[in-house]
Amino acid sequence: MSKPYSHASTHTPSSSSEARFLHLQSANNSLIVQLDPVPAIVYWGSQFNRDHALSQEMFDAPVGQARLDSHIPLALCPEQGRGDFGSPGIEGHRNGKDWGPVFQLTAVTDSLSSATLTLSDPRAALEINIYLELDEDTDVLMLKQQLINIGCNNYTVNRFALTLPFDETFSDIITFHGRWSHEFQTQRTPLEHSGFIQENRRGRTSHESFPGIIALPPSSNDLTGDVLGMHFGWSGNHRLQARVKSDGRRYLQAEALLAPGEVVLAPCESFETPTMYAVFTSHGLNSMMQKFHQYVRSSVLHFPQSMVRPVHFNTWEGMYFDHQPQRIMDMASAVARLGVERFILDDGWFLNRDGETRALGDWRVDKRKYPDGLKPVVDHINQLGMEFGLWVEPEMVSKDSIVFREHPDWMLGLDTLGYTQPSGRYQYVLDLQNLDAYHYLLVSLDTLLTEHNIAYLKWDMNRELVQAGHALSAAYHGQTLALYKLIDDLKARHPYVEIESCASGGGRIDYEVLKRTHRFWTSDCNDALERQTIQHGMQYFFPPEVMGSHIGPRQSHTTRRCHDMSFRGITALFGHMGAELDPVGLEDNELRAFARYIGLHKQYRPLLHHGNCFNLPSHDPNTRIHGVTDDTVTLLAVAQLAMPKYAQGGRLRLPVLCPDKRYRIDILDAPSAFSSTMKHKPAWMVKPLTFQGDQLIRIGLSLPIMDPESAMLLSFTLV
Ligand code: GLA
Repeated sequence: MSKPYSHASTHTPSSSSEARFLHLQSANNSLIVQLDPVPAIVYWGSQFNRDHALSQEMFDAPVGQARLDSHIPLALCPEQGRGDFGSPGIEGHRNGKDWGPVFQLTAVTDSLSSATLTLSDPRAALEINIYLELDEDTDVLMLKQQLINIGCNNYTVNRFALTLPFDETFSDIITFHGRWSHEFQTQRTPLEHSGFIQENRRGRTSHESFPGIIALPPSSNDLTGDVLGMHFGWSGNHRLQARVKSDGRRYLQAEALLAPGEVVLAPCESFETPTMYAVFTSHGLNSMMQKFHQYVRSSVLHFPQSMVRPVHFNTWEGMYFDHQPQRIMDMASAVARLGVERFILDDGWFLNRDGETRALGDWRVDKRKYPDGLKPVVDHINQLGMEFGLWVEPEMVSKDSIVFREHPDWMLGLDTLGYTQPSGRYQYVLDLQNLDAYHYLLVSLDTLLTEHNIAYLKWDMNRELVQAGHALSAAYHGQTLALYKLIDDLKARHPYVEIESCASGGGRIDYEVLKRTHRFWTSDCNDALERQTIQHGMQYFFPPEVMGSHIGPRQSHTTRRCHDMSFRGITALFGHMGAELDPVGLEDNELRAFARYIGLHKQYRPLLHHGNCFNLPSHDPNTRIHGVTDDTVTLLAVAQLAMPKYAQGGRLRLPVLCPDKRYRIDILDAPSAFSSTMKHKPAWMVKPLTFQGDQLIRIGLSLPIMDPESAMLLSFTLV
């Protein structure tokens, strides 16, 4: 298993009828696993003293009429054969047999914060290891499982799921839907009966179904109340469920969604689930978000060297496929003056890539466009003090390419059976489980990185998997694992190269891909208004330093909306900032504005990329108030997304401040149109004032009257 667990004690279960429990703890929480008759989480919540023994009587439940004659626990791996009528944790068979296993606990290894539970069913010849680990600092729970075929013939796995119960008072769920250019749309709905199911069959994490669910009581909000957040770290097909049993018990379930016959275990082979990451907190959604961020910072992200996230410039919306070295160097000179620190050459640089219909797979520099290769461009960029980054889309192939003409059999599909799969963006997918194709890609990427001074790869993936066949069998799962291996192998050869995970924008955003990458291209939509919502949803799980956010041109290329520089700048500031447009020929005032927001981002970058993020409530659903804070400075944005609901902006109260400290308020940026929305501005907006923390927490300040699609940036500094 990839995650080592610290082992403090190992026991073999006794035959005593006395119930046994594991009590795991992290900084704030206790998690209780009842071991008999089958391991089940019976409590996960605020911490309590582990010195006092737990008694079975505390968990004894009534048995109703007209039901099975005993109470069936909601097990970590629910079993139909034990009488659980919910979604089983395991489904599979051995030529139609061994389809209903019932497991017994055979070994337990545990420490204060982790446990490994081994379950076995000798009749079905199956063994399961369940791994639970609480991160002691952040309270994040990691849950994963392994299934081992201990029989003498093949076992077909249909489903193998992770199950996490939650409290019956959590009768709301927040889920995430979306589409291209419209990722991370949140939806809060009641969860009363039956349940919610989300299936992603697109072969990548997807824009449509982000693998995360938040469960909470209706009264919980950003600032207060119990919250359980869950993310399933997997970049392929998945099924997530939030279920309510008819007796009111509730659980989340997450699994890699397997196609028929996709996973067949030969004797002694094993199959692992991806990892489920979950947080319980009794301090609202902000606390959940901060714990996920801290966990990502400490345990998921692996930066090769410096943690400072350089400001990016990306050429895509600035020039699309029109690559001319001199023009690119002019762009580089222009953006270096604005403060850009890393220049990324996007799609269009490789052999015959003049448009989206051709050339994917031929990862050699196009000498028609670059007669002297990329070196003069890279050198120019480096001389300007910027790092150089390059776009690639390794998993893909165009039929109009040298590699496809020479190796049509490298394509992922069922074409040899006579099926025809639809193309996506005119392209197809290479079969990464085909060793020749895999080796070709590894060598191509290795050569590029060896021959050029490339600090960064933007790793794109612009189509979904359809008919993903390898050697005629379904290969969605295997393709995802092979992608991870490809990135890992490349990183072993080039440990200092950073990678951005992009899939037509935010189609591949999850913790498992983030273990091997360093930034996400959040969305192809650079429209600041849309970005406010997209970034809000993404930030529940991902800290700002991995959330690519670019200032685009005045008119958005994806929505055709126009926004002033202030709204664009403030919106992009709260992520890993970049710029994406043609800077050559921009008017001086626009150039100055770019330089200003880049400068602001750099000034506040340590806070933005290490601080605690928060959202604050407003009386107007169209006002988004969010920020980031540390012990001395709080940076806050007020974004008015649509026409204000009321004639007054309401009050800004800041529970993130310290009650006994005093703060100076500075307006760092405000819409130029303020003079026309208000005849009189609130006094704190006219000159810098200081206020006492407890008064800002409780009384707060009047917010200004703002135009739709505008934003204001404030700082609160300890005096
Ligand atoms: C995808 C990405 C864009 C850009 C293009 C290039 O759409 O999301 O940012 O890189 O591909 O073809």
